[in-house]
Amino acid sequence: MTHPAPLAPPPPPPEAVGPLMRSLAVLRELATAGGRRAVGDLARDTGLARSTVDRVLSTLDRLGYVRTEGRDAVLAPRLLELGNAYLAASELPDRLGPLADRLADELDESVSLAVPDGDGVRFVHQATRRRAMSLAFRIGDLLPPERGAPGALFADRWTARDWERWRSRRAADPTDAHFPAVPPRGDGRPAGVDPGTDFEDRVAAARTAGWSLDDELIEPGLVAVAVPVRDPSGHTVCALSAVSHTSRLSARELRDAVLPRLRETVAAMEYALSAPATDEQDTDDPRGPAPAAWMQASKQELGPEFVESMARGLITLTAFGTGRADLGLTAVAEATGLARATARRALITLEHLGYIATDGKLFRPTPKVLELGFAHLSGLTLPAIAQPHLAALVERVHDSASMAILSGDDIQYVARVPTVRIMSVNITLGTRFPAYPTSMGRVLLAGLPPEELSARLALTDLEPLTRHTVTAPERLTALLERVRDEGYALVDQELEEGLRSIAVPVHDRTGRVVAAVNVSTHAGRCTADEARESLLPALREAAADIEADLRIAGRYARIPTH
Ligand code: PHB
Repeated sequence: MTHPAPLAPPPPPPEAVGPLMRSLAVLRELATAGGRRAVGDLARDTGLARSTVDRVLSTLDRLGYVRTEGRDAVLAPRLLELGNAYLAASELPDRLGPLADRLADELDESVSLAVPDGDGVRFVHQATRRRAMSLAFRIGDLLPPERGAPGALFADRWTARDWERWRSRRAADPTDAHFPAVPPRGDGRPAGVDPGTDFEDRVAAARTAGWSLDDELIEPGLVAVAVPVRDPSGHTVCALSAVSHTSRLSARELRDAVLPRLRETVAAMEYALSAPATDEQDTDDPRGPAPAAWMQASKQELGPEFVESMARGLITLTAFGTGRADLGLTAVAEATGLARATARRALITLEHLGYIATDGKLFRPTPKVLELGFAHLSGLTLPAIAQPHLAALVERVHDSASMAILSGDDIQYVARVPTVRIMSVNITLGTRFPAYPTSMGRVLLAGLPPEELSARLALTDLEPLTRHTVTAPERLTALLERVRDEGYALVDQELEEGLRSIAVPVHDRTGRVVAAVNVSTHAGRCTADEARESLLPALREAAADIEADLRIAGRYARIPTH
């Protein structure tokens, strides 16, 4: 997928790290393509040699940022750690997100936070109450400034050069193809109505009024009002928007209805921004502190297919985080375990590409980091995150693996990788079984708060489905306690004769059990003890891999369980 470049980028500085630039080109291309692209097409789109793309992909695979599925390269959730580093360093979602969420609850409308990114507008927080009618943006999505409410607030401080750049970008990209999150310009609007023509007037009006309207600038029906949020020095750091649809409110009605509440929320947000910078640092350090050893092992294993300078360069971004927004060269080198000269060249490269800003001494990540797949990956559901891990599990154990969530008294399958069919019923996504006689159900029930569990069991009819089904409430309660202590459930032919299955919980980043994964096998094949021994370790590893992805993906985005 190639788009005409709006402006020719300046040539890279002599210190720039070539492999790092190439890996970022591949990541951008994959993000533009919606997270998946055939490897051959990636080579064509980026203009890189096929052997180069292969090396880039091997290195990205090793980092956990990309995986290959057949002919395709696919973005992987761990890549979100780069965007998380920017978001954590900015502190905007952590400090302001809860206030935005509260406003969305009060208004029962979508509320978002967006920051200026070059001449664009990028979302950093979404509290979505979207009805089916309009498109919903994700964290990381980019809007042209003239389309949407926040842009007119940010363009207030543009220089003549910024305006010039904006005009040439629009001339070079007349359909907004560079902004895949918005429908093409002209789509669904009367011919000749271009949200760019009155943009300068809207910027001036927004300056006087202190708010800005989106009257169907993005798509028909979608309306929004935005107000600026300033830091203690008076600098606009982001915009708070409330969003609705013309089927409920016109743009002006929305403004009248929500402006007072928006302004109260902004006052609370500006107060939150005035609190001293956090000393508290991220507790989750997904990469671990020993990249040197990791680099060496990767090099040994993959040989020339592992490009160290690429991996080192990308990892540089993970040095930033909460309480670590502005770092000097020494701090970056220390945090990543890189030599100063290596860290410096990586930072220079990242600055050249717009992912790092610097005053010459201190470095800080920019919102542009979010263009590296954040919008796509933060929109993944839990089953989509789990699927490749279940496939890897099945490859290891040669039995079917599944994921289920609790739905009332039932479990409901949300992901499944089958091998041979050993059940009389064919399980598909959405299949429901009663929770109490199934391994995943027991894991999910055991994860409930004790009061909720006993209330629920009191209302459940425990029927024998086979001659093995446990139906005595006291026995079931005792079994569930054991499941909670041991962290797994093994169920032997209680749902169906001949079927044995073993399940473990999947926890979200707060420690709550949100799903269960299991492997099911033929009871005749081995004893229960043997099944436990041969399956449980692999199952636990798969669950841990899913949890690791979920921890990264759930840091700033709400991950739906189905
Ligand atoms: C949104 O948050 O989805 C949003 C914000 C501003 C707009 C339109 C949509 O102008």
